[in-house]
Amino acid sequence: MSRYHEVYNHWKQDPEGFWAEAAKDIDWSKPADQIYAQVDGLDRWFVGAECNTCYNCVDRHVEAGRGDQAAIIYDSPITDTKRTYTYDQLRDEVATLGALLIDLGVKKGDRVIIYMPMVPEAVGGALACARIGAVHSVVFGGFAPKELATRIDDSKPKVILSASCGIEPGRVIAYKPLLDEAIEIASAKPTATMILQRDEVTAELIEGRDHDWKAAMGEARRAGKSAACLDVAATDPLYILYTSGTTGQPKGVVRDNGGHMVALKWTMHNFYGVEPGEVYWAASDVGWVVGHSYIVYAPLLHGSTTVVFEGKPVGTPDPGTFWRIISEHRVVSLFTAPTAFRAIRKEDPNGEHIAKHDISCLRTLFLAGERADPDTIHWAEAQLKIPVIDHWWQTETGWTIAGNPIGLGMLPVKYGSPAVPMPGYDMRVLDESGNEVERGQLGAICVKLPLPPGCLPTLWQNDKRFRETYLSTFPGHYETADAGYMDEDGYLYIMARTDDIINVAGHRLSTGGMEEVLAGHNDVAECAVVGIADQLKGQIPVGFVVFKSGVEREAGEVEKECVLLVREKIGAVAALRIVMNVPRLPKTRSGKILRGTIRKIADGEEWTMPATIDDPAILDEITDALSDRGLVSSR
Ligand code: COA
Ligand code: AMP
Repeated sequence: MSRYHEVYNHWKQDPEGFWAEAAKDIDWSKPADQIYAQVDGLDRWFVGAECNTCYNCVDRHVEAGRGDQAAIIYDSPITDTKRTYTYDQLRDEVATLGALLIDLGVKKGDRVIIYMPMVPEAVGGALACARIGAVHSVVFGGFAPKELATRIDDSKPKVILSASCGIEPGRVIAYKPLLDEAIEIASAKPTATMILQRDEVTAELIEGRDHDWKAAMGEARRAGKSAACLDVAATDPLYILYTSGTTGQPKGVVRDNGGHMVALKWTMHNFYGVEPGEVYWAASDVGWVVGHSYIVYAPLLHGSTTVVFEGKPVGTPDPGTFWRIISEHRVVSLFTAPTAFRAIRKEDPNGEHIAKHDISCLRTLFLAGERADPDTIHWAEAQLKIPVIDHWWQTETGWTIAGNPIGLGMLPVKYGSPAVPMPGYDMRVLDESGNEVERGQLGAICVKLPLPPGCLPTLWQNDKRFRETYLSTFPGHYETADAGYMDEDGYLYIMARTDDIINVAGHRLSTGGMEEVLAGHNDVAECAVVGIADQLKGQIPVGFVVFKSGVEREAGEVEKECVLLVREKIGAVAALRIVMNVPRLPKTRSGKILRGTIRKIADGEEWTMPATIDDPAILDEITDALSDRGLVSSR
């Protein structure tokens, strides 16, 4: 019997009592005056409380006798390296790094950007910031200098932590030239950088600005430097994580200290069913929210062991990597994006690599980041013979909105649904006028305010954009920008985004941002980027460009330049590989490009001719262009 309904109802009857109870699992230096309050018109949790997130993730476990337990297992098949850090060692690392940051002038509330590959130092960097009350902002390594520069300008970091390189299959990416270029473009200049020199590339350091990470750590250790955990307000920001919005200007999602700890700690046992001392692995990247919440913070808050994996589900060296890691490190819970499983399945459809490893320790597979297609879930269930749990959340929420809570007792699975709302989330499915639709009817999925602890209180230094983006369409509600429905049993079905965000290999990208780049090409008059279905990555972006009149260059050449331009301005992670020249774009009479119709044509979905279309013949031209490239799915 699942305790879910009892627990959810308990929360509904007494939300503050529920979170006050959950807060007992966190060590506070000063308890909250108010569990929930509105401060300056924003919803805040644990107002008046003081705490330190690094203390709760590291020091308190050492004090409680977990010093010799592994805190981080670093497994990097791509560099053939494995390393373990105990909680004792992690405390020493972060205390030293914290002291170094202080030496570099970082004070409470200052920002520090972390632009790093998947190495344990990236986790240490985040914790060191938390330790001294600094606010970190991790930028995913696959982003280009311009994207990094945008984040530098918005967050104005005092220091940037980076590495000499990241490693992708078949290529080493030197980070330092990218970092230098970003600092060059940005108007806000950091005063210092710390560069982790890796064996594959030695970065050239700029005298007076760049510091060699390992050398500086060595010196600091010899000098006995160590930073203590600084108390901050529960409502102070812990980090800023930029995520795609509807324009090229990313949104700086703010996470606080107190509510974040309470919510994440609650999920580890109650949702994921994991206990302190067990090994938990989120195969994601610290640059994404899944990495923040479930590589860095939640497992460590819980006293579990977290795995830092530098590799890919396939090709490093084969589709058996996940199973090797699970078996070797006795992982009890794996969390990844469905795309990783689609990649593994493609290369190992019969699970021959799975059979080579003893993965009897693995109890549950969790999937999130994009819609989990039932086919992939069925395959994973058949191969692993354990529960496969889809759960739905967003960078903004930081933890599960809806899922099947293994820890509280698993509910029946309904394929295609990530199951039920977690305590804290009062879900409403609304029509355009903001009225609740009947169960089973499609609508905009919203959360009745307030959002629970752990969710974003605002956007970095932009309360106005926060309110406009999330709270203005449906007053009294947070708009998730996902459309879907709720069935009679309260299960949610997440069907599509209502904005221009697409999900490529579990990575959240803005088609609007790509359009801004394409529109910047000299020969492009207008353009549209549409996310179309892809068997491996879930979705891929496809660009349509109309040339300026008088352009007589070969179309293929301009298309290639467009692909390169997006790679250069946004980064390889945008994964825009197809750009096609079309004579015209389909529009409504008021000039709105019919992106949704293009997507339906490509995905082989039923579509009707929009009544307001300017010229129906244009859709035939688009269909032909897609067919010529083999991009029309047959359903
Ligand atoms: N630094 C630099 N470049 C990166 C990068 C990083 N951290 N991560 C990805 N890239 C590059 C890739 O090398 C690729 O470059 P290419 O165009 O030269 O081949 C490009 O960005 C697109 O990457 P991706 O969309 O991930 O495609 P892929 O073919 O390299 O890998 C998967 C496909 C499915 C194996 C991969 O996306 C994956 O492992 N996904 C797991 C899910 C995941 O991590 N989700 C995150 C949220 S939970
Ligand atoms: P991100 O902020 O990168 O985590 O992306 C959040 C978005 O990814 C959500 O708004 C959804 O559109 C999508 N998403 C994440 N998890 C799921 C899921 N389990 N099912 C369907 N869509 C999901």
